[in-house]
Amino acid sequence: MAKKTTGTVYVCTQCGYTQPRWLGRCPSCGEWNTLAEGSAKPARAAPGVKTAPRPSPLSLVDPMEGTRVSTGIGEFDRVLGGGAIKKSAVLIGGEPGIGKSTLLLQTASLSRGTGPSRALYISGEESPAQIRSRLDRIGLEGEGIDILCTTRLEDITAALDSVNPVLVIVDSIQTVFSPEAGPVPGTVNQLKYCAQDLVSWVKERDSVLMMSAHVTKEGYIAGPKSLEHLVDCVITFERNDDEIRVLRAQKNRYGSVDELGVFAMTAQGLREIEDPSALFITRREGALPAGISYAPVFEGTRVFLVEIQALTVNAKAALSRVYSEKIDSARVSRVAAVLEKRLGLRFSDQDIYINVAGGIRLTESAIDSALAAALYSARTDVPLKEGVALVGELSLAGEIRPVVRIRQRVKTALGLGFTRILAPEEEEGVTRVRSVKELISELNS
Ligand code: TYD
Ligand code: MG
Repeated sequence: MAKKTTGTVYVCTQCGYTQPRWLGRCPSCGEWNTLAEGSAKPARAAPGVKTAPRPSPLSLVDPMEGTRVSTGIGEFDRVLGGGAIKKSAVLIGGEPGIGKSTLLLQTASLSRGTGPSRALYISGEESPAQIRSRLDRIGLEGEGIDILCTTRLEDITAALDSVNPVLVIVDSIQTVFSPEAGPVPGTVNQLKYCAQDLVSWVKERDSVLMMSAHVTKEGYIAGPKSLEHLVDCVITFERNDDEIRVLRAQKNRYGSVDELGVFAMTAQGLREIEDPSALFITRREGALPAGISYAPVFEGTRVFLVEIQALTVNAKAALSRVYSEKIDSARVSRVAAVLEKRLGLRFSDQDIYINVAGGIRLTESAIDSALAAALYSARTDVPLKEGVALVGELSLAGEIRPVVRIRQRVKTALGLGFTRILAPEEEEGVTRVRSVKELISELNS
């Protein structure tokens, strides 16, 4: 183990925490083997040199619940796990134009419900006038928000030290540049160096850092991906259709990654959608086309009704294929195989296309029944009757198995105007089906 020598400090390569002695685990961020010998930055030394930490009883440790701060936006808080944690860093990724700057500006305005706390909004992409006019467009107050338009890391850290904001917004991290990190702006090295410096700043204060990052349509480009381990939360902003925007946590050190935050982009900024359960179904007049079925699924703690679409056509090659992005292809093949074996309905000479309206990815096994119904309907060209929703997991033997939280699913589906819920449970409002055979005969009745 390295020994303390005069003038030397140990700096955590993960969070930037500085301390006088080497330790196996960083007392600030909790990562192992990240302390490396270094020298304290004379320009911006940590406020008050920290003494060597002592062990304390785990039972007395504050689980940080007390240090959550609301963003002022319920759907954003939900995705963060009930608000943002002080001393934490949040990365918000999304394609250009999706609404990252709008969300961050709304957060800057709405998060400071109490006290004279300040938000510092740093933009490397827009002018103060542009940001002001966006704020006016949304119809929010600019009270307590300072704006700094720069791309230089050194300008930013100097401003942070003088303003000492509780909320630091960097829009976007890809525009921030430091000559210390090499001569070329926009490299991964630059990105990591600058992000690291900003993360260290909030870790030493009671502040929250939110950084936006552009990602391409295909997903994460190399840049922002390299920041994921530096931050506490990685949130992605996705487009559902023209106006719906969905926030989802990809990583969250302080909460679950199951919750969705749902918004509509309106002429006055992002509006929260309080009841998004019907978000992923297409409203149709009259009878359904063949190949469509509905299922109530869980995303986090809320039920959403989803629309599954299936299409089968004669296989173009000797080997049939499954084209399904939103539901695992293996699941689709398995459900098709069960239908083929138990009902004698041939799928092995068919190409199968599966889609989910609204583009949401479905991973719950509770969708098996609805998937079976959509495949059956597509193959026979007989549409499902209106008002039918299905829940249940399908076994290889063709049995339909119960799923968790059935009552909540049924309630939501009935509330949205579905009239016949086919499920394996004995439950009020449910038509009981215990096998794929029973399911199909119910669909035909
Ligand atoms: P923006 O927040 O600038 O996206 P990003 O920072 O992710 O690039 O949002 C850009 C889009 O949102 C732009 O096309 C205009 C639209 N918009 C509205 O429809 N209503 C509004 O109130 C605002 C501020 C933007
Ligand atoms: Mg922007």
